[in-house]
Amino acid sequence: MKRTNYCGLIDDQYLSQTITVMGWVHRRRDHGGVIFIDLRDREGLLQIVFDPDRPDSFAAAEKLRGEYVVCVTGLVRHRPEGTINPNLTSGTIEVLAHEITLLNPSLPPPFQLDDDNLSETVRLENRILDLRRAPMQRNLKLRHKTAMAARRYLDTHGFIDIETPMLYKSTPEGAREFLVPSRIHHGHFYALPQSPQLFKQMLMMAGFDRYYQIVKCFRDEDLRADRQPEFTQIDIETSFLDELEIREIMEGLVRTMFKEALDVDLPPFPVLAYADVMRDYGSDKPDLRVPLKFTELTDLMKTVEFKVFRSAADMPYGRVVALRVPGGAKLSRKEIDDYTTFVAIYGAKGLAWIKVNDVTQANETGLQSPVVKFLPENVLQEILQRTGAQNGDIIFFGADHEKIVNDAIGALRAKVGHQLGLAEKGWKPLWVVDFPMFEFNEDSKTWSARHHPFTAPKDGHENLFTADPEKALAKAYDVVLNGWEIGGGSVRIHREEVQAKVFDAMKISKEDQERKFGFLLKALQYGTPPHGGIAFGLDRILTLMTGAESIRDVIAFPKTQRGQDLLVEAPTPVTEQQLRDLHIRVRASDAMKP
Ligand code: AMO
Ligand code: AMP
Repeated sequence: MKRTNYCGLIDDQYLSQTITVMGWVHRRRDHGGVIFIDLRDREGLLQIVFDPDRPDSFAAAEKLRGEYVVCVTGLVRHRPEGTINPNLTSGTIEVLAHEITLLNPSLPPPFQLDDDNLSETVRLENRILDLRRAPMQRNLKLRHKTAMAARRYLDTHGFIDIETPMLYKSTPEGAREFLVPSRIHHGHFYALPQSPQLFKQMLMMAGFDRYYQIVKCFRDEDLRADRQPEFTQIDIETSFLDELEIREIMEGLVRTMFKEALDVDLPPFPVLAYADVMRDYGSDKPDLRVPLKFTELTDLMKTVEFKVFRSAADMPYGRVVALRVPGGAKLSRKEIDDYTTFVAIYGAKGLAWIKVNDVTQANETGLQSPVVKFLPENVLQEILQRTGAQNGDIIFFGADHEKIVNDAIGALRAKVGHQLGLAEKGWKPLWVVDFPMFEFNEDSKTWSARHHPFTAPKDGHENLFTADPEKALAKAYDVVLNGWEIGGGSVRIHREEVQAKVFDAMKISKEDQERKFGFLLKALQYGTPPHGGIAFGLDRILTLMTGAESIRDVIAFPKTQRGQDLLVEAPTPVTEQQLRDLHIRVRASDAMKP
């Protein structure tokens, strides 16, 4: 028997035709002598009717259970009035079965496939059944559509798909690496690539001009809702273009993916400098759907006695900001306490606030607050003026080291904005540019690359590396969408002497430079073209597109927060012989811990 159609695509165009479909029994209902099944395949559901007038197929239908796989041939006809289902493509028709073949029975599934309240553990342990569910089928099909849109766009623009190795070399690119022991080379290890960064640069040096790859990357990081230890990048590199030209092509790619996958026309991407987004939003990936901004108060608070604010204003890298929330005076004490607990996650020691009842009275009469009594009237007046406060607003305050203030009030901004319904609907993309070259690592007291050490400084900024590394800016850029970093890249260093200066600034010794990046430094001497690129996080883009709760919902076989695959049960211990072959002994104290 040959399948003629997908279940979910049959509509009234097929009326009076005889079709053959194959799929899974989604549901079976006995209605006084007539049996209905909803047959399911990847395109959706189709109602099949079994009539007692055809005793063979009726008897076969009586034996069907959920998830049995069957082949049905029958006649497409109208559904009777009153049984039309407007939510299905096939909702106006049904198929009167002439013939049915059982292709395979199924054990009773451990859960109802359309149960919306399954725990993620149950879903991941039974991933095959979970993937049969409509939302998962939809997510993975959208993922395919998005990837195909990207491939078409990149192909049209002359980018060539080239594969790069998965067994790579340990390099300090940022995250912790996954290591793979070598059997042949005793005591030596490969590392799985955190990204194909240096390979794509070497492909530019090799003259391929434009490269792309949809590629797995591996990072042994602490996992969060938007992170997986192996994830997929749309990885891109191009030669002979400057930062602006690269951004233009890449913005076109993001637009094309959203248009072709979702039929969404993204609004223009504003280009904001890193320093400005940190000043206004405390975050380098601000959710611009929320229209709230920080108000700087550090200078003002250097004049007050109130210790909480004064000490933060006076400390090196201290910051005091206000966040005005229109209409926030209606928040209850309990809600404010909950926000205080929330900002504590980011290290904030408290959350001062002022409810504005009467802006004309900058004192305890017009303002309700635990801190007003500590602040002189002229300062309160200045706060109201700078924030542009109106009656009915609440003003929150953060005072601490700038990192804590930015993280805490930045997160509060997004949370309050969404919870009070102040956020706009839809899509808010932006570019963040002019990132600092380096960030200071408090533990090791050294500077490390903020993006990666192959990122080019802004013209002339290499001269700041020794005296003022903090001020050196990079030709680096991120794409942010609705508060998520969906892509990041940079123009690369193409001159050996600049690359050496960056390694020097990071205090990587000449020997280490040679040992770890000798191949790169050598290649830079043989006519390296100016080049740059970007990588997009495909899993994150799909999480946003589908509105999924977790990145795991757009990956067929994801890892849990603890890095496990619950379906195949990985990782697992291996045999003594396998370890021997690899010249590895597992330390007794660490072995077999759950
Ligand atoms: P970067 O490290 O910024 O750049 O990564 C690029 C994009 O990949 C996504 N991403 C992740 N997605 C899921 N899980 C993770 N653990 C994870 N880590 C990163 C993000 C991020 O924006 N080689 C450079 C790119 C370049 O310079 O061209 C790189 O890897 O969406
Ligand atoms: P305290 O003097 O510690 O009782 O704090 C007075 C008010 O300031 C309380 O509302 C605290 O929540 C708030 N507060 C304390 N520390 C901070 C801080 N670092 N940033 C913002 N507000 C704070």
